[in-house]
Amino acid sequence: MAWIQDKELTFWERLGSRVIRAGPMPRHIAFIMDGNRRFAEKLKMKTLEGHSHGFAKLTELTGWCLKLGIREVTVYAFSIENFKRSKEEVDGLMELARKMFTRLLEEQITLEKHGLCVRMPGDLTLLPQDIQELIAKIELATSQYNLCFLNICLAYTSRDEINHAVQELAWGVEQGLLQPSDVSESLIDKCLYTYKSPHPDILIRTSGEVRLSDFLLWQTSYTSLAFQPALWPEYSFWNLWKAILWYQVNHSALQKARDVYLAERKWQQLENDKAQVTEKLKQEGSPLRDPQARQLLLQDCRAKREERIQDFLQALERKRGDFLEKLVSASA
Ligand code: FPP
Ligand code: MG
Repeated sequence: MAWIQDKELTFWERLGSRVIRAGPMPRHIAFIMDGNRRFAEKLKMKTLEGHSHGFAKLTELTGWCLKLGIREVTVYAFSIENFKRSKEEVDGLMELARKMFTRLLEEQITLEKHGLCVRMPGDLTLLPQDIQELIAKIELATSQYNLCFLNICLAYTSRDEINHAVQELAWGVEQGLLQPSDVSESLIDKCLYTYKSPHPDILIRTSGEVRLSDFLLWQTSYTSLAFQPALWPEYSFWNLWKAILWYQVNHSALQKARDVYLAERKWQQLENDKAQVTEKLKQEGSPLRDPQARQLLLQDCRAKREERIQDFLQALERKRGDFLEKLVSASA
């Protein structure tokens, strides 16, 4: 089965698509693909068959999103918690990933045609070595594509992601690249596994469960949440359509809340910078410098912080790149 299903939309789906495309469209949708095992049970199949149907639905979903002009999709494919399932199920899911990722590498021409960049956020070191190597090959082979993005979260939980980001920041301070006062919400954001993606506009969970299960907790403060009863393998174009319509109904309230948050964050950063300048002047023994001199110091403080942050982010990027390159060389 191809990773991107090019199946034509039906007449009614095309009509539905035109209706929602008249409104504000999401750029990025995240999915908790839940209900594979209940689907298997319902149809008296083996659990792993349920997961295979779940994978098939993912390929259908990427086709719908491309047709709707949604540039980015993030899916929760395997949480760190899922390692606690039976050995048979975990091994089966790993085997499915192995097969599908090998196939993905064989579909380079389609990936290039659609400009699809595939990323796999998560703690990859928890996965079997050969799967890590496949992931590294996929990420490096598609990193230049930028028309659309598929993020498959594997060995992922949000708390692990935040913990990992904090460790990266501590490393930056330890290496002398950052000062502790450089740490901010926006810098934490840039240290997450999902740092290259905008926060999702919509998060959809299927199967009627109403919880986030440690998925994208940091990234969803201003996201429209949709909990839908369909089991993941039964998910339809119309389920997606409804979730987008719900997002459009909430769009202006979400946008307003996000703008207020961004303005507050900017104000907070300015206050922190001012406090730093005051502290510096106090240390120099000249706390009452004239406003113009204070302004110059403030600008200097910002420029230096920006420079440190850029150097730190470049060092992080090199660290990530080296990790992937090493995996690819190990597989050669
Ligand atoms: C949740 O349903 C689903 C998973 C834990 C696995 C999701 C994986 C896929 C859809 C396949 C994707 C594969 C690749 C290679 C990307 P569940 O098992 O919790 O079902 P339940 O809620 O009915 O018990
Ligand atoms: Mg479940």
